[in-house]
Amino acid sequence: MLCRSLRYFRYRLFRWTLTGICCSLTLLFLVSRGKSPVNQYRNLELVEEDPRYYVNCTGIINGDEETVILAKLQTLSIVYKKRPVLSEKDYIDFSKHCSNFTKVQRYITFPLSKEEEEFPIAYSVVIHHRIDMFEKLLRTIYAPQNVYCIHVDKKSPEIFLNAARSIASCFDNVFIASQLENVTYASWSRVQADVNCMKDLLQRNLTWKYLINLCGMDFPLKTNLEMVEKLKALKGANSLETEKTSPHKEKRWKHSYKVVNGKIKDTDINKEAPPIESPMFSGGAYFVASRNFVEYLFKSPKILRFIEWEKDTYSPDEHMWATLQRMPDVPGSVPVNNKFDISDMNSLARLVKWSYLEGDISKGAPYPPCTGVHIRSVCVFGAGDLKWMLQQHHLFANKFDTAVDGIALQCLEEHLRHKAMYNLLNYT
Ligand SMILES: *[C@@H]1O[C@H](CO)[C@@H](O)[C@H](O)[C@H]1NC(C)=O
Ligand SMILES: *[C@@H]1O[C@H](CO)[C@@H](O)[C@H](O)[C@H]1NC(C)=O
Ligand SMILES: *[C@@H]1O[C@H](CO)[C@@H](O)[C@H](O)[C@H]1NC(C)=O
Ligand SMILES: *[C@@H]1O[C@H](CO)[C@@H](O)[C@H](O)[C@H]1NC(C)=O
Repeated sequence: MLCRSLRYFRYRLFRWTLTGICCSLTLLFLVSRGKSPVNQYRNLELVEEDPRYYVNCTGIINGDEETVILAKLQTLSIVYKKRPVLSEKDYIDFSKHCSNFTKVQRYITFPLSKEEEEFPIAYSVVIHHRIDMFEKLLRTIYAPQNVYCIHVDKKSPEIFLNAARSIASCFDNVFIASQLENVTYASWSRVQADVNCMKDLLQRNLTWKYLINLCGMDFPLKTNLEMVEKLKALKGANSLETEKTSPHKEKRWKHSYKVVNGKIKDTDINKEAPPIESPMFSGGAYFVASRNFVEYLFKSPKILRFIEWEKDTYSPDEHMWATLQRMPDVPGSVPVNNKFDISDMNSLARLVKWSYLEGDISKGAPYPPCTGVHIRSVCVFGAGDLKWMLQQHHLFANKFDTAVDGIALQCLEEHLRHKAMYNLLNYT
């Protein structure tokens, strides 16, 4: 009996010692690393501190009808509408103390996985107002291994540019484009803004693998890790909308247009045919492009001539990228044949809901009705749109607006952060 107890005691002692050694080693390891992963994780979770604006984001993401209705009512309430929003000046003061700024705003300052670290993504972000929306977008897509070029419209107020500069100055890998354009709707200047960022990004001492262009009303639907996985699966191909041009849109590049008093005007002068052998195609302003694609644009004399030719067309962003993507010698392009047409729904670049296509999916509509509001026929998403959107393959969606539905953005941001952190815990 005594013998058994003694043996048991020795066994326990052995266990304690073993546990003790393990614990000390782990502690030593964590202390040597400076921070415990669990604390890093906690520090990065987004917390909505003010209980007045509580929203059950799990319910929203699950598409729970009652929760969605409650959220909608909340966005309409005076208390919610009057919730504080940081101004340009607030951001300038706030980001003067970078370490406080990045900590309070919960920027992820270390790569969350080796896979992401080895696959840097470049961004061209074109903005003109709403610094709070820009900062929300940046902190959601930010990763230290990526690189971000921010193009601020030349006619934006100086304080807006200063606030964007001040935020960018907190990161080595976020910068303002070296050349800023006065961006006029539907004119070449919109494309030139992206081209300026492309040039700057190629100059950077970082071999990013893909380039994604964004505007201030875009928001991601995927975490950085999910994006890396989808981009790797493209195997060097680009992903953007490129379809046969409908006849009513041909005038956009058959006539010469020019900007008069900040508005684009048809001069009624016929343009020469495009200086390329392949046909013109239609698409959107947004692309997911391989580094080879971007490098090729500035190397090929034929493409440089085509780009010159595009400069006096109407809305060149909606046919230039789409046409480049169908030119046989362009890296990552697809063949000219119409069987290779890619719709916006089939490309990764952007999820957009057009009012005239919304409806009952079971009756043939491409997407369910918008639960937010429409601007120029485009849905500004509401919280009720999220469940369906998150099931799609797109990397980003357009348009979001905190003034229309801040809850949609809050829950999407929370959801993505939670997913990114869950992956982190799996890795550590
Ligand atoms: C949030 O909504 C979900 C339904 O999707 C529900 O299961 C959960 O209990 C709700 N949480 C709270 C705190 O109300
Ligand atoms: C950090 O920023 C927050 C938010 O602007 C501010 O309330 C706080 O005083 C700052 N802390 C320090 C140490 O600067
Ligand atoms: C660029 O990268 C090279 C090789 O990694 C390094 O030696 C050089 O210092 C870097 N230059 C700058 C300006 O960061
Ligand atoms: C930008 O264009 C508008 C309209 O043409 C003009 O009024 C404004 O002065 C321009 N701003 C700058 C900074 O060039």
